Amino acid sequence: MERQIVVITGGAGFLGSHLCDFLLEHSYRVVCVDNLITGRLANIEHLSNNKLFKFIQTDVSENLKIRGKVDFVLHFASLASPVDYARLPIETLKVGSLGTLNALELAHRKRAKFMMASTSEVYGDPLQNPQKEEYWGNVNPVGPRSMYDESKRFAEALTMAFHRKLGVDTCIVRIFNTYGPRMKNEDGRVVPNLITQALTGQPMTIFGDGKQTRSFCYVSDLIDGIYRLMNANYSDPINLGNPNEKNMLELGQVIKDITGTSNKIIFQPLPGDDPKRRRPDIGRAQTILGWVPKVDLKEGLTKTVNWFKSTLNNR
Ligand SMILES: NC(=O)c1ccc[n+]([C@@H]2O[C@H](COP(=O)([O-])OP(=O)(O)OC[C@H]3O[C@@H](n4cnc5c(N)ncnc54)[C@H](O)[C@@H]3O)[C@@H](O)[C@H]2O)c1
Repeated sequence: MERQIVVITGGAGFLGSHLCDFLLEHSYRVVCVDNLITGRLANIEHLSNNKLFKFIQTDVSENLKIRGKVDFVLHFASLASPVDYARLPIETLKVGSLGTLNALELAHRKRAKFMMASTSEVYGDPLQNPQKEEYWGNVNPVGPRSMYDESKRFAEALTMAFHRKLGVDTCIVRIFNTYGPRMKNEDGRVVPNLITQALTGQPMTIFGDGKQTRSFCYVSDLIDGIYRLMNANYSDPINLGNPNEKNMLELGQVIKDITGTSNKIIFQPLPGDDPKRRRPDIGRAQTILGWVPKVDLKEGLTKTVNWFKSTLNNR
């Protein structure tokens, strides 16, 4: 049977590179498109001799042209960590708007299925917990996180417009905090931050009073859900995340236990508009995709800590 061809924008990033690996293992051809603004060649270097893998370095906000057949376009290109999108707000808005437009037009031209990698940040600082897909969110359109939240909300709206008006086969995944190997230790997200600090003898930084919550999903669970969604027939948004909600102090303690560090915890002011609670309602993913996350926090963090240890040792 002819192999199906998947274009992954943002394929050299954390999630994108795991998707490249997974889809190659599942007999797809993969075209990875990335401008390396936050992604790294090191994430895909091991694939460079694989004949089923191709890397194209380009900015998808400028254009996205692929020769030949395409069966899927998975649009994962974005600035994704609060540090990155605060540093590059215009690039963030461009990739969410123009980048999404270019990726949707590619899917339309090629009659390919399109997936939008959206985020739980579309719910903003939620007034409902857990967050269901029907919830419209509580987002500050001009706040310090607006470049990310609004670019993703726009991207979802554009995806639905291509679906409703042009009949493009689309799906939208609202990803909740996901962690695992290949996150960058300097990217500002809480898991790599705390692990790097724990492993390098620095004080561990908790923002605010540490009572704000997140729900952390291990990367292999997320990729499994994405694969199920790619092959499902469902166009409304679907939450993917682990409903096991933890506050930041609890997270810090689990990381302390795993690393065995006695580093002290220090507190810094909470960044503006930081959501106070975050927990997915995954009823829809369970019903439509038969998906539930399997990796518990301690197991996933242990794997992640081991990976960070090996990369810190190789520096
Ligand atoms: N990891 C999470 O917890 C999480 C949660 C919610 C949503 N997401 C979404 O999943 C996607 C991947 O996130 P990630 O955590 O892997 O982040 P990441 O920064 O590791 O990956 C994003 C990739 O997109 C690339 N990119 C950015 N702008 C581009 C452009 N204009 N042209 C081409 N490539 C570009 C970057 O170089 C990078 O490789 C993003 O869309 C993000 O918003 C991630």
